[in-house]
Amino acid sequence: MGPWQHGSRRKEKHTMSSQSHDRTRFDKLVQGLRMPAMGAPMFIVSSPELVIAQCCAGIIGSFPALNAREEAGAPVMLEHWLAQITEALARHDAAHPDRPAAPFAVNLIVHRSNARLERDVEICTRWKVPIWVTSLGARPEVNEAAHQAGAIVLHDVIDNRFARKAIEKGADGLIAVAAGAGGHAGRQNPLALISEIRTWFDGPLLLSGAIANGAGILAAQAMGADLAYIGSPFIATAEANAHADYKQMIVEGAAADIVNSALFTGVAGNYLRGSLLRAGLDPDNLPAPEDGVGLRKPEDRAKAWKDIWGAGQGIGAVTRMQPAADYVDWLAQDYTHACAKLRGHLE
Ligand SMILES: Cc1cc2nc3c(=O)[nH]c(=O)nc-3n(C[C@H](O)[C@H](O)[C@H](O)COP(=O)(O)O)c2cc1C
Repeated sequence: MGPWQHGSRRKEKHTMSSQSHDRTRFDKLVQGLRMPAMGAPMFIVSSPELVIAQCCAGIIGSFPALNAREEAGAPVMLEHWLAQITEALARHDAAHPDRPAAPFAVNLIVHRSNARLERDVEICTRWKVPIWVTSLGARPEVNEAAHQAGAIVLHDVIDNRFARKAIEKGADGLIAVAAGAGGHAGRQNPLALISEIRTWFDGPLLLSGAIANGAGILAAQAMGADLAYIGSPFIATAEANAHADYKQMIVEGAAADIVNSALFTGVAGNYLRGSLLRAGLDPDNLPAPEDGVGLRKPEDRAKAWKDIWGAGQGIGAVTRMQPAADYVDWLAQDYTHACAKLRGHLE
């Protein structure tokens, strides 16, 4: 059990809850984490090197399955990435038995537009991926497949209604995506979102959106989340698959540099103002998205995300480009500092 966990409270909560599908297994997966945090999956940006660095540094690492792309007829890239990650984490564990790597997660877009879903589910099953993060519409058959493979499923949601649906359909836990998150952000304040979900759900719950420092992680816990889900700060790391100018914009940017628009993918998302200017757009006068476009096709989404760079409102805390391990080291120190400071206030 990590120093930040409270065994007795957890046990009590588990017995109180009829909704927690797999609290015990989740608690087991997170017990060795260095701090209550997970690196969030980011389209294009999350590379196997980033996942390995996150896990070896002591937080859960993750990537979207769709990032592993191959030319038609070429060997399946997702298999290759899973082999690379599994082998690197095993090497780390052999060299550092005192601080084994954290588990990793694969993000599956379960929306009907994902033609690869069945294949990717089969691959995640075979490779025994321990955590499946599902997004864009909960699917009972995917949850079923994960459970048969011994994995747990965390589904990301932007409001309480979707949260209930996801749990009804068999997800084990939830990722509450609040306003200010990078990528397809939610619209609700994190305090409201977490407390509404916590009125009925006692299972694994992560908070996503603008968490970038130790105080943010502690705040997520104070609200009732188990883990902080952190995306954008990792864009400015050496291992991220992102253009150098994109990394620099994360370092230089702050909340005021984030623009929310549904224009690029058909669903509201947060993007860097500078990337819109770079693409010849006026961030203050973006055309309205056509009515009822809905989520665009994966190829069109990929095109949009290549030049229009996603980021959340928490990037003000990112002050330099650095290896992911260094950022996680800083985060761990900052979290310890935030805990001590709060303890001082409470005493
Ligand atoms: C560039 C970028 C790409 C993203 N792509 C995905 C994705 O493919 N799948 C997904 O579930 N979430 C995606 N997200 C959302 C993140 O997983 C996470 O919810 C978010 O980054 C957390 O907010 P933060 O960026 O403020 O830390 C993306 C976020 C960013 C910034």
